[in-house]
Amino acid sequence: MSDPKKLFVKTYGCQMNVYDSERMVEALGTKGYVTTDVIEDADMVLLNTCHIREKASEKLYSDLGRLRKLKLARPDLKVGVAGCVAQAEGAEILRRAPVVDLVVGPQSYHRLPEMVEAKGRVIDTEFPAEDKFDHLPERRAMRGPTAFLTVQEGCDKFCAFCVVPYTRGAEVSRPADRLMVEARDLVARGVRDITLLGQNVNAYHGAGAGGDWTLARLIREMAEIEGLARIRYTTSHPNDMDDDLIAAHGDVPALMPYLHLPVQSGSDRILKAMNRKHTAAAYLRLIERIRTARPDILFSSDFIVGFPGETDGDFRATLDLIREVRFGAAYSFKYSARPGTPAAEKAPVETAVADARLQEVQALVTAQQRAAQDAMVGREVTVLYEKAGRLAGQMVGKSDHLHAVHVTDPTGRIGELVRVRVTSAVTNSLAAVPVGR
Ligand code: 5AD
Ligand code: SF4
Repeated sequence: MSDPKKLFVKTYGCQMNVYDSERMVEALGTKGYVTTDVIEDADMVLLNTCHIREKASEKLYSDLGRLRKLKLARPDLKVGVAGCVAQAEGAEILRRAPVVDLVVGPQSYHRLPEMVEAKGRVIDTEFPAEDKFDHLPERRAMRGPTAFLTVQEGCDKFCAFCVVPYTRGAEVSRPADRLMVEARDLVARGVRDITLLGQNVNAYHGAGAGGDWTLARLIREMAEIEGLARIRYTTSHPNDMDDDLIAAHGDVPALMPYLHLPVQSGSDRILKAMNRKHTAAAYLRLIERIRTARPDILFSSDFIVGFPGETDGDFRATLDLIREVRFGAAYSFKYSARPGTPAAEKAPVETAVADARLQEVQALVTAQQRAAQDAMVGREVTVLYEKAGRLAGQMVGKSDHLHAVHVTDPTGRIGELVRVRVTSAVTNSLAAVPVGR
């Protein structure tokens, strides 16, 4: 048999892309590809791209510039572009970058194996009628104790700044019975922590026993799988947090006390201009209701500063909301005009103003993140060991609250859930020792 062909994959952007990259690796495995971390060794380079902000898109073209040189030395190197930039600008990529052999949009990954064998340059950015997941190979690879599972893709919300409804298409939920099979299969192969993924995951409604299941129903059923200790889901829209999902945070122990619930802005005027369809007060009420169900829950959020028309007063309202909620983590971005979205038609906020606001919001959320970590010091928490740490005798994993924890535990094993006591907090993680070991 000939040597296996080597595949180098670079993933940009969100967790959905991380998941998709894994699936593409598996699909190309059927054609004899194995992954490599050394780009110079690769027979094929696959860039799984992100289009959410301009900066993310630009990275593709600078990476393609570098690949051009590599291909001069290795003319038989295949270069593929996948993901949301492929979807949005596929034809332009082929025109601008002769180095690219193959362009594949997120809904066509199951066609990759035939595409790599095609002669000449190929592009597929259709939204096919068939479900790509029905055509992707079953997962065989051995894996760690955590996994992503895509349950829903696309979004119908059309926030005025966002490309997702265009690049990922309309909301589609995968059938619940299929997801239960995949979840059981993951657990059988050692997974103890599953994160359910979707661009608008809490809008999930997929066919299951007895009719359509909501996300809450799916979580409740998955929580019954023996050996599955932890369930999380991301990303959610505030308007899709239904009563049963809120209740699940109180009565499903496997559902972890951490929720990413983006609000984007604290100003009603800006929320309206963003087409978010809720007010700041409604968001705060929702936070209260979830906290009533699960008092120790930590929230995280996304914020956009410098959205067109954002005044100083609007920005102050965002800071006020952040102070009121006290987030465990948050991600803030400077508004980036995306071609084809309604907000891109409007006059932008001055760059210097947006930059200053970004710094201010980041300082505030960093302080809150720090406070949430500091509050853990001295407490007992549960950690799922994901890998060995850099120091001898150290294990690394996540707590229920999604804090990274370094545990001094020479007898620790990957996949173990261990009660530990937190001894200190450093910049981005906690240090801990096992309880009673
Ligand atoms: N500009 C800046 N940030 C954006 N996001 C989405 N679109 C844009 C944009 N055009 C942010 C939102 C979203 C996160 C994934 O990225 O905050 O929640
Ligand atoms: Fe984009 Fe999220 Fe709004 Fe959907 S809900 S349009 S994915 S920001």
